[in-house]
Amino acid sequence: MTITETESLLDLFEPEWSGRTYEFYSALRGRNPVHWDDLMRSWVVLSHADIAALSKDDRLSGARIGEFHAALPPESRADMAPLAAILQDMMLFREPPEHTRLRRLIRPGLTPRFIRTVRSMIEELADELLDRVVPTGRMDVIHDFSEPLTRGVIALLAGVPAHAAHLLKDWRGLLPEFFSQSSAEMSRLTALREVFDAGAEQRRSGAGDDLFTQMISAQLRDGEYTEDEVFANFLLLIDAGQATTTHLVGNAALALLDHPEQADLLRQRPELAGNAAYEFLRYDSSVQFTTRVATADIEVAGRHIRGGDTVTLVLGAGNHDPARYTDPDRLDLTRKATDHLSFGHGIHFCLGAALALTEIEIAMHRLVQRTRNWRLEGGEPSWLDSVNFRFLNALPIRFDER
Ligand code: HEM
Repeated sequence: MTITETESLLDLFEPEWSGRTYEFYSALRGRNPVHWDDLMRSWVVLSHADIAALSKDDRLSGARIGEFHAALPPESRADMAPLAAILQDMMLFREPPEHTRLRRLIRPGLTPRFIRTVRSMIEELADELLDRVVPTGRMDVIHDFSEPLTRGVIALLAGVPAHAAHLLKDWRGLLPEFFSQSSAEMSRLTALREVFDAGAEQRRSGAGDDLFTQMISAQLRDGEYTEDEVFANFLLLIDAGQATTTHLVGNAALALLDHPEQADLLRQRPELAGNAAYEFLRYDSSVQFTTRVATADIEVAGRHIRGGDTVTLVLGAGNHDPARYTDPDRLDLTRKATDHLSFGHGIHFCLGAALALTEIEIAMHRLVQRTRNWRLEGGEPSWLDSVNFRFLNALPIRFDER
């Protein structure tokens, strides 16, 4: 198969598939679990086993921003160049040895000890946010609860001062901006750079014990990191750590609205909350795929991927693969889904996975313990216009207090 040939495929952008993502994947997987998609100019991989294997294959590279940037329409390429330069410095888009070096910059801050320390703070913050809305009998799960919760955790982790935390409000992330070729976030980026520069200056004289301080200390101590690299990976932390978790909690709440018997199960058996977090991640992830570029020819499921081709690993499809999960489209909070693909796999495995699991566990536990009888307000909720990021625009509900 060469990239000039076209396979007749289903198109997720067609209105008939709107809101039916997992049915769409199933139809696509049924036709061909590994195929070339002319619209995306990419190979598309939909089976759990192939995604897991390819994520660990070092013939696939995560260094792909150059390709993405070159693929943008010529008129927006210059506008997006500053953003592309920042993305290029993030570990997510680098390969060893740079990837290993940049991962070292953040990993020491996300230790199990840190997560144990912040656990009670996350619980307190979740309860504070619920205290405000529970007596009113209505809330927007995203805007009143999950977004301020994850923003608070990231501000705490990254050491973003309270006066600057508003810059993270409604932050959807740099990648959605890059792909929508919008320069709207550029002013916010400039403001964040100012906060970063001022914070870095303070931390050079030794203030603070947050991850930001550790990053600046590593830069000074090892001289291994440029200031742009520290800034880019500081942004990655904010980026990768916030909207993903906000919307995972939103998607989990929507899943419980559709499965009230599972919400009751979680109310009756709160000890299931840790296990449930994995199932929520499997069932409806906020991140649906990731991409790689082949650096050599690769055979997968009888298909021939050529060096230079782009490969899209559809994590959300792997999570609903019937070859891996019995009755995959059913939410089952007792299911053991620890091998879900929502955090990726291989060297780029999500650095914030343990923190995200803790946030999801606490958020869903507190939500169901303090409220019951949820009703969706305002009809079917709408989604961000993106095939990769499954972000609800809002999730207004009514409920009774427990
Ligand atoms: C990487 C998903 C939360 C930090 C990743 C990747 C995925 C992912 C799929 C790998 C991407 C790839 O292989 O191309 C998620 C989801 C989250 C979440 C679904 C929440 C539900 C977090 C949090 C943090 C974080 C809370 C930090 C506080 C990172 C970082 C990377 C990453 C730094 C890059 C790792 C590397 O390139 O080595 N995440 N993430 N993530 N995530 Fe997360």
